[in-house]
Amino acid sequence: MSSCYEGLYSQIADALVADGYIVIQEAMIHESLQAIALRAKTTHGYKTAGISSASSWHVNLSRRCDSIFWLDESSSEDRLFLDFASGLQEYLNRELFLGLSYYEAHFAKYNAGDFYETHVDAFKNSKNRVVTTVLYLNEDWGEEDGGELVVYNENHEYVATVKPEANTLVVFMSEKFPHEVKPAKRERYSIAGWFRVDRAF
Ligand code: OGA
Ligand code: MN
Repeated sequence: MSSCYEGLYSQIADALVADGYIVIQEAMIHESLQAIALRAKTTHGYKTAGISSASSWHVNLSRRCDSIFWLDESSSEDRLFLDFASGLQEYLNRELFLGLSYYEAHFAKYNAGDFYETHVDAFKNSKNRVVTTVLYLNEDWGEEDGGELVVYNENHEYVATVKPEANTLVVFMSEKFPHEVKPAKRERYSIAGWFRVDRAF
């Protein structure tokens, strides 16, 4: 299957093999990004995100205060992103044999002061969340706006800081990169998503 994102998919696949992560600016078609960002900012479905239970996560009691809203196949805006992700899933399965079977993604809204402490996305001892994606939806994000994603490696050494600017996409191997969201100084929107090898239940 060919798609306008084929070049991007191959860039992501190469980076996942070489480094385990990648940060891409201007990832999606501009019109799609605009539509998705508008949807994120206007939907009323946000609910406070749960705190992960101490027994099931690598890093216990990661506190967060964002609100989330799961993407919905029946929304044409959400499908713009879900279709992008499903193309990536196919590509990664074809080229890297990752066996990804399921993708789940939510919008996240951080109000001023909100943060997410250092955590790992994958559940302990079970290969469920394999690849993490985060797409940012904030136009003109300045240094002074905070809310950076800070990524570490398995030894908890610093790897990268990512400004949550609109159309920046981060992809990384879920088990290998602890990360945190620094307190945002203004409203901050993103889509966090995970390719899994099991099914959601
Ligand atoms: C998450 C997460 C990062 C971000 O939702 O698990 O780490 O920058 N999000 O929004
Ligand atoms: Mn995370």
